[in-house]
Amino acid sequence: MKKNSRDTRLKVRVKTAKKRSLSSTLWLQRQLNDPYVARAKREGYRSRAAYKLIEIDDKFRFLKPGAKVVDLGAAPGGWSQIAAKRIGAQEGQGGKGRVVAIDILDMDKIPGVDFMVIDFLDPHAPGILKEKLGGLADVVLSDMAANATGHRQTDHIKIMGLVEVAAEFAKDVLAPGGAFVSKVLQGGTENELLAALKRDFAAVKHVKPAASRADSSELYVVATGFRKSPS
Ligand SMILES: C[S@@+](CC[C@H](N)C(=O)[O-])C[C@H]1O[C@@H](n2cnc3c(N)ncnc32)[C@H](O)[C@@H]1O
Repeated sequence: MKKNSRDTRLKVRVKTAKKRSLSSTLWLQRQLNDPYVARAKREGYRSRAAYKLIEIDDKFRFLKPGAKVVDLGAAPGGWSQIAAKRIGAQEGQGGKGRVVAIDILDMDKIPGVDFMVIDFLDPHAPGILKEKLGGLADVVLSDMAANATGHRQTDHIKIMGLVEVAAEFAKDVLAPGGAFVSKVLQGGTENELLAALKRDFAAVKHVKPAASRADSSELYVVATGFRKSPS
């Protein structure tokens, strides 16, 4: 939606309630005024995050019909909904595509998505995911974000830790030509990880989708054309 100086759309203001902290009031106000939140509600997506994956995949085209996809940090399910739709994993579509998704939080069922509540950092998680996949994956997605502590450096370390483990997992389960997409923080992927991704993938790009809030330091690394090293 285009904004101009004569924008007449009504902005919802949220009054501070006794039991609501200022940060929750501001969060609620932002949600109520967010065009992607309204659009997700209208179009039946579980989260505004769905539009980030739509934009990333429209650009890089890795969600192909029949693909096997892993979705890490899937709740409440926007990315899984998009992935299932694009690869044809939904019931009645008869395709071979499937989505295996996990999160530490539970989420409602999505047709064509095999969801489990697991902490990805649990040492058993990669094995369980591999067993569910029953073969190699074509795409590994990670929108995982650890709860913010408010301490910039700690938050950075926590999220980059998740990205590193996700990248290692991707290396293990991806089929040749596969793709790895992960949320990272501004400044992009850490040098060492970036070098490793560049070694293992034909192309590595960073993108900031329009649906990613401008004031958020998140962006996404998109690595395509996985080169499987002989084992
Ligand atoms: C930004 S949300 C994901 C939104 C999702 N992509 C969507 O489209 O609805 C990040 C998710 O990562 C999950 N998460 C954080 N750490 C995790 C971990 N160690 N294992 C699994 N999920 C984790 C959180 O519980 C949260 O649901």
